[in-house]
Amino acid sequence: MLLLGVGCTTAPDRPSSKSQLVADMKRATDHHSYSKPEEAVTTHLDWDAKVDFDARQVTATATYAIETADDAKRLLLDCRDLTIHSVAVDGVDTEFELGPERPFIGQPLSIPITPRTQKVSVHYTTSPDAGAFLWVEGDSPFLFTQSQAILARTWVPCQDSPGVRFTYSADVEVPSSLMALMSAVNPTEKSSDGRYHFDMDQPIPSYLLAMAVGDVEFRSVGAHTGVYATSDLIDAAEYEFAEMEDMLVAAEALYGAYAWERYDLLVLPAAFPFGGMENPRLTFATPTIIAGDRSLVSLVAHELAHSWSGNLVTNATWDDFWLNEGFTVYFEQRIMEAVYGRDISEMLSTLSYQGLVDEVDAIMDVNPNDTHLRLHLKDRDPDDGMTAIAYDKGYFFLRLLEETVGRDTFDAFLKTYFTTHAFQVMDTDTFLDYLDANLLTTEALRTAINVPAWVDGQGLPDNCPQVASARIERVDATLNGWVNGTTSTAELPWNDWMYQERYRFLSNLPDNTSAERLAELDAQWGLNATGNNEVLFAWLEQAVRSQHTPAYDRLRSFLVNVGRRKFLTPLYKAMVDTDQSDLANDIYREARPNYHSVATGTMDDLLGWTE
Ligand code: BES
Ligand code: ZN
Repeated sequence: MLLLGVGCTTAPDRPSSKSQLVADMKRATDHHSYSKPEEAVTTHLDWDAKVDFDARQVTATATYAIETADDAKRLLLDCRDLTIHSVAVDGVDTEFELGPERPFIGQPLSIPITPRTQKVSVHYTTSPDAGAFLWVEGDSPFLFTQSQAILARTWVPCQDSPGVRFTYSADVEVPSSLMALMSAVNPTEKSSDGRYHFDMDQPIPSYLLAMAVGDVEFRSVGAHTGVYATSDLIDAAEYEFAEMEDMLVAAEALYGAYAWERYDLLVLPAAFPFGGMENPRLTFATPTIIAGDRSLVSLVAHELAHSWSGNLVTNATWDDFWLNEGFTVYFEQRIMEAVYGRDISEMLSTLSYQGLVDEVDAIMDVNPNDTHLRLHLKDRDPDDGMTAIAYDKGYFFLRLLEETVGRDTFDAFLKTYFTTHAFQVMDTDTFLDYLDANLLTTEALRTAINVPAWVDGQGLPDNCPQVASARIERVDATLNGWVNGTTSTAELPWNDWMYQERYRFLSNLPDNTSAERLAELDAQWGLNATGNNEVLFAWLEQAVRSQHTPAYDRLRSFLVNVGRRKFLTPLYKAMVDTDQSDLANDIYREARPNYHSVATGTMDDLLGWTE
């Protein structure tokens, strides 16, 4: 039975009045935004834009409806690399002030207003280097945005803080051969004149503003679900994501009605720097999860889960990022368990446990306080918070809560949490108060969990739940046998293994495995030709570490075509670690023009490229 919130009374209530939004603003200080929503807050955006592929620029007018405090004197918007042509306040052109530029934070745009001001418009043009955009040239031109964490300000002047929510509508003009899509109600066919209108009438934070422009087609895969992709990928995408509606049904059964009416997925060019991005109504996804066998769809479960954790109940600041991602990984695992069974979800948690332990070790060497769930990112790029801590330490904390209070109790708690805080912001302290009041109601429970050790303590607390997967244990035993020679390459049960097992095997090969032994694996199992990008990635990383040069053409073509940072960072790092920096620099020179700013930012640091 479908519980969908489409016109259904069980969908979470939207905020009843705008002043409730203003009140919400007062809680947390966001170090990554110049905005002062307690003085004047944007409540609706009307965006009128023209996309120019030749100039790689967007020229637009952003008109905001605002709410003001009784003594309001100015509206502050975040901007980065924008050229502001003019500003109007209630229709009258007005002087404005652009403050000094700070690295990655950008500039404050200060607009004089009175408490009676209702509308403010900014006419502006984006920079060809706008951090959110990636422009893809060639036969199939494509533009996509990535706003999270603080890149929305590079394409729309806005109160770029996750604690400020606004509704929006947009009129966008693009080349007539292309379709425009946003995190809003979307077209399913191209318009004849390249003009598109969008409405998003549920309030969202700026980091969920999204747009894509490309020659894409739509296919429905369920009553409320569908995929968009370019013609070369649309058949594969339709097959790969055919189970999205099942995931939606499973998710609703767990934590309540889906609030966003439709859940569609857009397959982006391979340069997309992430696996997925939970843009409301339209998840953006990397094509590297199209494996031909639906084996990598946990990413869809993850982005879908954000429709509750993140998009409905939103982290107040980037210090509270674990409230978005930790809850989402937990929910993702529950969806995977419901749709595919506990064997599969436990294999996935076992892999994340290993990733977490490795990353905790690595972070402890550099900045131990970054292993706290609650982060302190003041004066730092919020991107620094995107580690396994928010995701997997967050997940294991919630799993500990579940195992301690029992699943039924925990599910009821989470469902109420999402429903009562829908369309609101949440900071760590407010969540911990809520947790104490509604779940950890006895001293015994509080002692068993030890919240401070998880939230403000280093490393992984002793009470971290144990995961066990019989299939993964068998892989580990087989790997031992292969390493010490009791199991031959031909005896490996490679063809019986699912991708998680293959990944475990390859990613746990000892660093000093010889190139000859990798050649044996490749000859027997055709690893260079695998169609599963997670397996390919694990294989290429080991090939670099073992200097198995026959895999280097594949390595180069992978790095030139794929811009997903999760793959790039370990591969370039493996080259640097093993004295192959020349190779790394040579590949990077070729690949860099294809990457998004989020990826070049990280790789420039890693390889010592300063522009
Ligand atoms: N919201 C994140 C992506 C993100 C986080 C972008 C912070 C910018 C700043 C998205 O939901 C995500 O977590 N994506 C993961 C996939 C997931 C299966 C762990 C990714 O892209 O790797
Ligand atoms: Zn996420």
